[in-house]
Amino acid sequence: MYNFTLSIPTKLHFGKGQAAMLGKDIAAYTNRVLMVYGGGSVKRNGAYDDVCATLKENGIEWVELGGIASNPKIESVYEGIKLCRENDLGGIVAVGGGSSIDCAKAIAGNVHFEGDAWDAIMKGRPQTDKILPVFAVLTLAATGSEMNRNAVISNMELNIKTAFCDDVLIPVSAVMDPTYSYSVPAYYTAAGVVDIMSHTFENYFSRETDGYAHDRMAEGALIACIQQGPVAVNDPTNYAARAAMMYVSPWVINGITRAGKSCGWSCHPIEHELSAYYDVCHGAGLAVVTPSWMRHILSDATVDKFVEYGVNVWKIDANLDKYEIANTAIDKTEEFFRSIGMPTTLRELGIDNKDLFDEMAGNLANSLGNAYVAMGKDDVLAILEAAF
Ligand code: NZQ
Ligand code: ZN
Repeated sequence: MYNFTLSIPTKLHFGKGQAAMLGKDIAAYTNRVLMVYGGGSVKRNGAYDDVCATLKENGIEWVELGGIASNPKIESVYEGIKLCRENDLGGIVAVGGGSSIDCAKAIAGNVHFEGDAWDAIMKGRPQTDKILPVFAVLTLAATGSEMNRNAVISNMELNIKTAFCDDVLIPVSAVMDPTYSYSVPAYYTAAGVVDIMSHTFENYFSRETDGYAHDRMAEGALIACIQQGPVAVNDPTNYAARAAMMYVSPWVINGITRAGKSCGWSCHPIEHELSAYYDVCHGAGLAVVTPSWMRHILSDATVDKFVEYGVNVWKIDANLDKYEIANTAIDKTEEFFRSIGMPTTLRELGIDNKDLFDEMAGNLANSLGNAYVAMGKDDVLAILEAAF
């Protein structure tokens, strides 16, 4: 494990009614904000009204940017930058899932950048030191964006979905009121569970083998998803299950289970290719890619890690043959995804031909060398073929 410095500065307001705390946090920075939200769910689940109330109570004026699409597009980022400049806004409050929060971060990182925001996004991090503060009101447990440094933005004209990351983009404060997520449809709830599990896997399956504390935390997060995820899917107004999913989501992607580890992620880059070409739901794409990736990389070099996963998370008998444990753990992962209504093949995801496999795999030809098991174009092709 490498030395590390970890800072997670987001102030978290967790629980029913906690949006009332937000206005005071914002007022410490500005009295004029951009409110960013998606297709309208926030107006039906109470989040929008609660945010308006706390803004009013604290004398904060706002301008709205609604209609942020899932897999947020660069066009919305441009629109938000324009609104911030025209209205001299000093902060951004995102209300919604990861897409609204990511869009808010990409706007925040580019309002004071004089160049083209897409160029800055392609460079991977803000190209200016002047960043607007971001505040997040979460309505869907999945990405952990409410407490992390990432924004993932898509450019459908170029078929690129890419990450824009920096500590300066970490939200100042985040509201997590589990009751806002009561209205998340079963499909998106399940996709969120898979996303949280995938973030956990990406750091758990790591070349460093001495992250004992990291790995026990990761296993706890996976167990919480496996036990409470289905409850949230089947009983959407179950407060404890919704709270469990909301509370676990940021901790597996805010640095805690990754700090001190060096290796790159495997399934997310492949899913981002699927999203960039087919605009698929992120968590559903991960449900398809993950079991296929696991089977592809299982070998003498990785089997012990799969045994650890199978025994500690799925409680498989540790006395069985190593490969039996590993394969059972992978099968159980796939069965779990299916049991909560997720697709596990590309065809179920709506991708019914292999026309773009070569192009998508080619895009990743040189970027997965640092993954848990280094991969090239042929590996990605094999994973896509097996997932078809
Ligand atoms: O648009 P609205 O009306 O809000 O509907 C959304 C959307 O249709 C709906 N929804 C959200 N909260 C709801 C609700 N519907 C009813 N009630 C509620 N309370 O759910 C749908 C999906 O929302 P979205 O924000 O797109 O989902 P998610 O949070 O999964 O975000 C996905 C995006 O985040 C990126 C993904 O790639 C994708 O672009 N990611 C961001 C990461 C990060 N910032 O660290 C990491 C992730 O790995 C991921 O890449
Ligand atoms: Zn993800």
